[in-house]
Amino acid sequence: MSTVICGDSIKEIKKIDDNFIHLILSDIPYGISFDKWDVLHNNTNSALLGKSPAQSKSNLFKTRGKPLNGWSEADKQIPLEYYQWCTKWASEWLRVLKPGASCFVFAGRRYAHRCICALEDAGFIFKDMLSWQKDAAAHRAQNVSVVFDKRDDTVNAKKWAGWKLGNLRPLFEPILWFMKPYAIGDTLTDNIVQHEVGGYNENAVKNQPLLNQGIEICSNIIKCRTEKSDRGLHPAQKPISLMKYLIELTTLKGQTVLDPFCGCGSTLLAAKELGREYIGIEINPDYYNIVCKRLDG
Ligand SMILES: C[S@@+](CC[C@H](N)C(=O)[O-])C[C@H]1O[C@@H](n2cnc3c(N)ncnc32)[C@H](O)[C@@H]1O
Repeated sequence: MSTVICGDSIKEIKKIDDNFIHLILSDIPYGISFDKWDVLHNNTNSALLGKSPAQSKSNLFKTRGKPLNGWSEADKQIPLEYYQWCTKWASEWLRVLKPGASCFVFAGRRYAHRCICALEDAGFIFKDMLSWQKDAAAHRAQNVSVVFDKRDDTVNAKKWAGWKLGNLRPLFEPILWFMKPYAIGDTLTDNIVQHEVGGYNENAVKNQPLLNQGIEICSNIIKCRTEKSDRGLHPAQKPISLMKYLIELTTLKGQTVLDPFCGCGSTLLAAKELGREYIGIEINPDYYNIVCKRLDG
């Protein structure tokens, strides 16, 4: 039976039976201080959202946009603390999945490796890394010459014309693909007979109208537009057609999809529209209410 729970998924997932879920599809917090729910480190003396000497001198630092200088020892611990946060739920994810079942995790480019290590350490097999190529992405990179112009340093402004501070436009996001190990001595085909998971369905994806909805499929690169209807409900909202693609690829109708960090419910809506059962968990009551409205609508 499908359900959405408002609560902490680290606790709530303990109520789900062993070997019950056919697919976990989740866009987890990336730990990059994108929003308050995304601050997963001990925020002591951290320049990121916490108090640092630099922050008390200046009010220029906002929630984001702060360069990663490793100014404080606390900042240097952020990747490790992200790994530790992932270990709080990774073994529960493994427990609730059926043997051979898939688990897709949207994890940010900066700390995805920490998430991979946490899930591997919990017992998952890391199968592949898919690339979601977006049609657009916000880009923050400062022109070096503009900074020199402000300092009236025309020589350097000319010398560094065309140079930028920051990253390249972030037009892809990794989707990590894990599998729960299946029984010793079984083949994957034996596992499919017993648990109805373990393979991927190329035909379902080829034959269905997703191809007309902004998705272009070429092996493990997925080009998918963000439609107008995929915006405005959550700062990390994911396209429904992308979630549908991943659900169709790995599950049959009637099977159960879990999203323990469901945000405004994109995974759940996709699962519902495809005739799958779903379980969603979201800690923020405002997003939980949006999920309920979306699913009712
Ligand atoms: C990256 S967002 C998911 C966005 C989602 N893909 C969508 O399309 O709306 C992650 C969500 O996890 C929620 N969250 C963070 N910690 C949580 C926890 N311990 N239990 C449940 N939800 C949590 C946040 O409130 C946030 O809405």
